[in-house]
Amino acid sequence: MFQPDILKDKVILVTGGGSGLGKSMGKRFLELGAKLAIASRREDVLAATAKELQEATGGEVFYTTCDVRQPEQVDKMMDAVWDHYGTIDVLLNNAAGNFAAPTETLSHRAVDAVLSIVLHGTWYCTLSLGKKWIAEKRGGTMLNIIATYAWTGAPFVVPSATAKAGVLALTQSLAVEWGKYGIRMNAIAPGPFPTEGAASRLSPTASFEGRMESIPMRRLGEHEELANLAAFLVSDYADYINGDVITIDGGKWLQGAADFSRLEQLTDEEWAQFRAQAKGQK
Ligand code: HXC
Ligand code: NAP
Repeated sequence: MFQPDILKDKVILVTGGGSGLGKSMGKRFLELGAKLAIASRREDVLAATAKELQEATGGEVFYTTCDVRQPEQVDKMMDAVWDHYGTIDVLLNNAAGNFAAPTETLSHRAVDAVLSIVLHGTWYCTLSLGKKWIAEKRGGTMLNIIATYAWTGAPFVVPSATAKAGVLALTQSLAVEWGKYGIRMNAIAPGPFPTEGAASRLSPTASFEGRMESIPMRRLGEHEELANLAAFLVSDYADYINGDVITIDGGKWLQGAADFSRLEQLTDEEWAQFRAQAKGQK
């Protein structure tokens, strides 16, 4: 599907790039010619991922620790990557925190724990790099990882839903305000893609299994599918896509939203009875 050099020499910074989906997207970027930088809090995870991805792809991976909740650390991260590679072309805001809990049990610190990573962290990274790009009179592209509950809402993960909704508004707002600087802003809303980080915090069984009935395609997403979409969106082939959010969830959120989705449960016999009953109505 892709030219092997579609991202040649693009410098791409992935927050939360040491694990899960960030790691998979980073790997794909490297395969397509990018120079990768990954950042998060855990240095051992970053170091191991950098080594693994370099060995697997032959590409270059720079890593630096950063807690995106700390604006000073975010500025330092941007400087470190910029100094190392001489520029940054793409920012992938992927770092997140989440857990499932009844909302009335949350402390204000629990709310802050999620909002500060997802909403404030994304804000700080966006602002820090946006200012640099504008001062340097150069454009760039930012891609934010959200979730479909940014617009549907979702019980039990309300801090995350409200934070992702904020990130969506940030994406759309700056797409308009910063378009004139040559800065593109887009988002991806993934459905269920198995990762250890999400499974351990969002499922009592620490697994993504048992959810297939809620997905029209009856399967989970494959990391490579998300990675390919991200690669396209940050590439120059997507240069006129600005301010959009692309959903990649096998149709899951629409099934949840559609009024008649529950009819999926009917057996052939029940459909026959239902039809006879409906035809009997004048
Ligand atoms: C209730 C909880 C809690 C839980 C923490 N808290 N976990 N409350 N239920 N499961 C409360 C704590 O009691 C504390 O409040 C406050 O939150 C802060 O907790 P800390 O452990 O000090 O927080 P911190 O060390 O900052 O860690 C942040 C974290 C953690 C979000 C809680 O899970 C984390 O670091 N996550 C990063 C990775 C991650 O979450 N990946 C999953 C992304 S998946 P008190 O009042 O006791 O002090 C994802 C999927 C989206 O986003 C879409 C899926 C479809
Ligand atoms: P993950 O592996 O837990 O990824 C989260 C990453 O964020 C980790 O690498 C973590 O690294 C980093 N991070 C957390 N707090 C941070 C902080 N304060 N500063 C810097 N980095 C921080 O989970 P994932 O499933 O791959 O999630 C990746 C993204 O996809 C998230 O935005 C998530 O909301 C989104 N998403 C996932 C799914 C899914 O089904 N998996 C669905 C929809 C959306 P450290 O712990 O080292 O800091």
